Amino acid sequence: MDNRDWLDELLSKTDLVQVVSRYVSLTKKGNNYWACCPFHHEKTPSFSVTPGKQLYYCYGCHEGGNAITFIKKIESVESGEAIRILAEAAHMTVPEFKTDKKQADIKKKKERLSALMRDAALHYHENLKSEKAKIAQMYIKERQISSMVTKFGIGFSLGRTEMLEFLNSKGYSYVEMKEAGIAEQSADSYYDVFMNRLIIPIINPYGSVIGFGGRILDKDTKFAKYRNSTQTILFDKSRVLFALNLVKKTKQREGINSIIITEGYMDTISLFKAGFENVVASMGTSLTLEQAKQLKNYCNKVYISYDGDGAGQKATLRGLDILESVGLSVRVVKLPEGKDPDDVIKSDGKEGYEKLLESAVTLTTFKIDSLASAYDLSDPDGKSKFAVEAIKIIKKLDNPVEQEEYLKHIHKLTDYSMNVLLKQAEMSSNEEVIITEEKQEQRSSDSLLAAEQFVLASLINEMPYADFSEDIFPLLSCDEARVAYNHALEKYKNHYTLQSLYNRVDQPYQEYVKGLINYNFVDSDDKKKFDECIYLIKRRSLMAQKERLAAQYQETKDYEILAQLNRLEKQLKQMKKNGGYYG
Ligand code: CTP
Ligand code: MN
Repeated sequence: MDNRDWLDELLSKTDLVQVVSRYVSLTKKGNNYWACCPFHHEKTPSFSVTPGKQLYYCYGCHEGGNAITFIKKIESVESGEAIRILAEAAHMTVPEFKTDKKQADIKKKKERLSALMRDAALHYHENLKSEKAKIAQMYIKERQISSMVTKFGIGFSLGRTEMLEFLNSKGYSYVEMKEAGIAEQSADSYYDVFMNRLIIPIINPYGSVIGFGGRILDKDTKFAKYRNSTQTILFDKSRVLFALNLVKKTKQREGINSIIITEGYMDTISLFKAGFENVVASMGTSLTLEQAKQLKNYCNKVYISYDGDGAGQKATLRGLDILESVGLSVRVVKLPEGKDPDDVIKSDGKEGYEKLLESAVTLTTFKIDSLASAYDLSDPDGKSKFAVEAIKIIKKLDNPVEQEEYLKHIHKLTDYSMNVLLKQAEMSSNEEVIITEEKQEQRSSDSLLAAEQFVLASLINEMPYADFSEDIFPLLSCDEARVAYNHALEKYKNHYTLQSLYNRVDQPYQEYVKGLINYNFVDSDDKKKFDECIYLIKRRSLMAQKERLAAQYQETKDYEILAQLNRLEKQLKQMKKNGGYYG
């Protein structure tokens, strides 16, 4: 069956009124159903569902769409997952569109290991009540987090093999325990890698336990303070944010305006206890693009609340630009030297931390202040060096009003007159700007190739979100890509299998096509990404065309060319307005 037919069937079997009713209570008035909008705060209902059209619309916040967009928005998930959720409710199976068998095997394995992880988490949690868990019970009491034990599913490992024996009795093999990242082998025996540690389950937003953090309780020990799950097919530390599952619940319950990002488990737990239910932890590493994008699915503003020490600050600087690059507005919470959020809550309570949130500074202010602390501003030499460096930071901002605002800040810190600072800003070399622009060019040509590959791989593998509706053939970058595109189209029209497509490819192109067939898709791949990649390909091609025309016009001064150029310009501007962030 065709992907589109399948989607049509799914939507026809889905009753939007029923779907929405799972989240808000609807009242029938006339042809429509009404409720208070789940996407913004209101006291009188302006959210409507029209059963005849299977569409919803809010007259207050203008949010609208069909069952898929509703689930995407309310569950903060991508299209693929929204479709899965709806399919489950409609008792339909999402067809395996890919290199079927391999994909199905991975799915099965994931389900099996998920079940194992869930059983393990419940058992660790149960263990906490045991006589033999005194040390863990004491620790929890000492840190005053007893009331958080259930919410976070905190547990305890009773030793080298207790967990493994339990899992074994439930029918899991030792190999599976190893694949789940719980067991490791030494000599000829398996042991629990979290033995004798306090267990903090790491749960994804869909409620699956995907990993554990294990904290050592024995104070004088040579072992690291934490042992975290290693990479498994369920767990990839660079994609995970601790407690995002709980933040999602908060969002569904009462909405959130921002998310606080802390360094670790204990800060997150402590802030939750104090009543901040919008906190996640990056688990001690620099933030990644993947994590930033996930956060953007939940809100538009983040507070970085890392420890007030050197290491915390450096990690902070590295993570911040990534957050801004996905369009999040970033505030940095300044913690007193040597203190972490947990310390602040303990010494100054909820109000104390709230004050710190209120006085959190922008990214640029934070960068300038960090720089200032690296120089001796009482020394004329230190002061001038600081000013020169600080102005370089400001020059990267593209808004002159903003630039002026921050120049004032430097003025306050150094006492140099605004005039002098402005002059310095004009003088400050553009060298760095040029270098970063060059890098950007490089990066965008890389990302163009990546986009092209992703699109072609999606088409060849007939991913559910991929279609041929946009004719990108004339825009492709090389012969290999054009050959691959044609074969993908033939396969789609004639219902070839991947194998018979491959057999039809001429030898010189086989390597390239093979790469596309075995392309490494990730779970988050979806229509949005597909559309953005197409957008990027189109945009790059128009830019190249623009450059050619501009050069021609320079030579000929032909007004017809100029007119063409203007039309192109307009088209590009239009694209930018509608387009995603890949461009
Ligand atoms: N971390 C880790 N491995 C370590 C040390 C730290 O994975 N050996 C990660 C953990 O996610 C930890 C975070 O970095 O939560 C922050 O480290 P730290 O401040 O040392 O731990 P906390 O959990 O905050 O504990 P404490 O309250 O005792 O500071
Ligand atoms: Mn800490």
